[in-house]
Amino acid sequence: MAYVSLYRKYRPQTFAEVVGQAHVTQTLAAAVTDDRLHHAYLFTGPRGTGKTSTARILAKSLNCERGPTAEPCGRCVHCTGIIHGSSVDVIEIDAASHGGVDDVRDLRERVAFAPASARMKVYIVDECHMLSTAGWNAFLKTVEEPPGHVVFVFATTEPHKVLDTILSRTQRFDFKRIGAQHLGGHVADLGAREGLTFEPGAVDLIVRAGDGSARDALSVLDQVVAFTGNDVTVRGVAEVLGTVPDELLTRAVDGIAAGDVAGLCVLVGRLADGGLDLRQFARDTVEHLRRLLLLQVAPDAGLVEATPERVASLQAQAARLGRMELLRAIELLAEAMAQMRRGNTRLPLELALVKAALPEAAGDPGALAARLDRLERRAGVRDTSAAVVPLASDRERVPQPAGDPQPAGDPQPAGDVEPPREPAAAPTGAPDRAAAPRPDFQAATAAPVDLELVRRSWEAVLEAVKARKRSLQVWLLMAQPIGLQDNTLQLEFRSGYGFHADNCAREDSQEVLGDAFAEVFGTRLRVACSVSTAGSAPAAVADDSASLDEQAAAVLESEAAAAAGQLPDEGRAHDLAIETLTRDLGAKVIDDGA
Ligand SMILES: Nc1ncnc2c1ncn2[C@@H]1O[C@H](COP(=O)(O)OP(=O)(O)OP(=O)(O)O)[C@@H](O)[C@H]1O
Ligand SMILES: [Mg+2]
Ligand SMILES: [Zn+2]
Repeated sequence: MAYVSLYRKYRPQTFAEVVGQAHVTQTLAAAVTDDRLHHAYLFTGPRGTGKTSTARILAKSLNCERGPTAEPCGRCVHCTGIIHGSSVDVIEIDAASHGGVDDVRDLRERVAFAPASARMKVYIVDECHMLSTAGWNAFLKTVEEPPGHVVFVFATTEPHKVLDTILSRTQRFDFKRIGAQHLGGHVADLGAREGLTFEPGAVDLIVRAGDGSARDALSVLDQVVAFTGNDVTVRGVAEVLGTVPDELLTRAVDGIAAGDVAGLCVLVGRLADGGLDLRQFARDTVEHLRRLLLLQVAPDAGLVEATPERVASLQAQAARLGRMELLRAIELLAEAMAQMRRGNTRLPLELALVKAALPEAAGDPGALAARLDRLERRAGVRDTSAAVVPLASDRERVPQPAGDPQPAGDPQPAGDVEPPREPAAAPTGAPDRAAAPRPDFQAATAAPVDLELVRRSWEAVLEAVKARKRSLQVWLLMAQPIGLQDNTLQLEFRSGYGFHADNCAREDSQEVLGDAFAEVFGTRLRVACSVSTAGSAPAAVADDSASLDEQAAAVLESEAAAAAGQLPDEGRAHDLAIETLTRDLGAKVIDDGA
């Protein structure tokens, strides 16, 4: 027997079998049972959601030998005729291929005749939006005064193209995109009947690709099975789709929002190792960002077509990014796509992501605006920082903050199938900070500044400093505030970090720090730096891994900028070079020249 695709094999045959459209099927079933049928229906909704199937079920309900019944038998001559498309009284017209007026005239003449053998004549006019205006007009007469033995079902994916006169004469049912849960259950169910097994997360991916359409979801499943056999894996699905799982896009964009350069580079590395097409990834990321932008600009306009679940998760992510940040990220990636067409794919992609994640690193006007977005966000103007999702390898270690929009048990991305190679720059400490509660900016400005407040707000200070001068923040990680008097904050550095203390005390550093304090506390403070004589680490300072991460990120940042041909801050590059020399290579500064 020839292979029958799953979506043909499993066309719903009863109202109860139609998934996720109870608002339609229950109403229709009740109408059949109570004999309250209209003579003309309009079924609207996205493709593959059950419009044609439901129209046929309705036809069976009316014509079943045991009917009219809401539960047609499926075995009598009328039911089987309808199932096989051989019933002379149930006429399907595909307006996409019969859009002209002639067919409709012909039809109008034939409508007048009584059904040949069944109880009712049912006309199912698929893709009815394709009918020409003349065609509709020819229909109108029949729809206005239909003979008692006729029921029309018009089906369309584009109701706005249907004439008002027809709209007003039909009872309309809007089929919905099938929700992820319903669709997932359906896919798993049919899969089980077919003897398939699913790796956790595989069904999710299929459902997401289906985007609310049962037909699309099932045809993806078909392809995967043809490709990988009966064991359906996440990797298999991702490969068949040739698309990037949404999880990865979400992670990438969260990485941009969090400024997690190291995480982004790890992600790209994994994609490349996993054999994923980086051009496709860039394209999909741009599309993802575009959707976020649409949701920000016009949240209620329904511009983003997706399941409600998907829209909700996109909306949550859109709230984590500023508009200028989004715009700039789209621009950078679009640029990268052009470069990727010319050859090397990995470097342009990495650079674009790094630049998008670090508006601090670039001097263009877009970067400035993105930076402002970010400052606002950190200051709690749009307080979404707690929702930042840690990237890649950190997910296992870091407790998820409450209200985290990531679905639990999300599938492993394709790249995860191979053991991840963790570069030295992998983030370890950063997500802990991202997950830590941030002090409330508004409250902080109102309260008088004392040491306690400074200590509590230290994370915010570090963030504000980082936004201005990254190396300065790196140095500050080695210090803790130990006193505050007359607007001078005493900072004690770990022993051995005299160089860091000196740098923080410098006048240009005081300037930057003053700005940062003003941002967090509404007041400029100066710092007085000392170095601890004890060997132990100051308590408030993050552990070494955090500082390493920061340093790695700072180095990456400057490398990225250098590779992009623009070193934004020569002074900082100098600082970094000196720092590397002194800390890691044991050099001594004889004359800093600063
Ligand atoms: N609600 C549903 N429940 C179960 N299966 C469905 C549903 N909707 C669609 N399907 C599956 O998709 C196939 C096509 O469905 P159907 O032809 O009814 O969709 P449609 O809404 O008419 O799509 P189109 O707009 O493309 O004509 C069915 O054979 C079935 O396998
Ligand atoms: Mg159809
Ligand atoms: Zn029957």
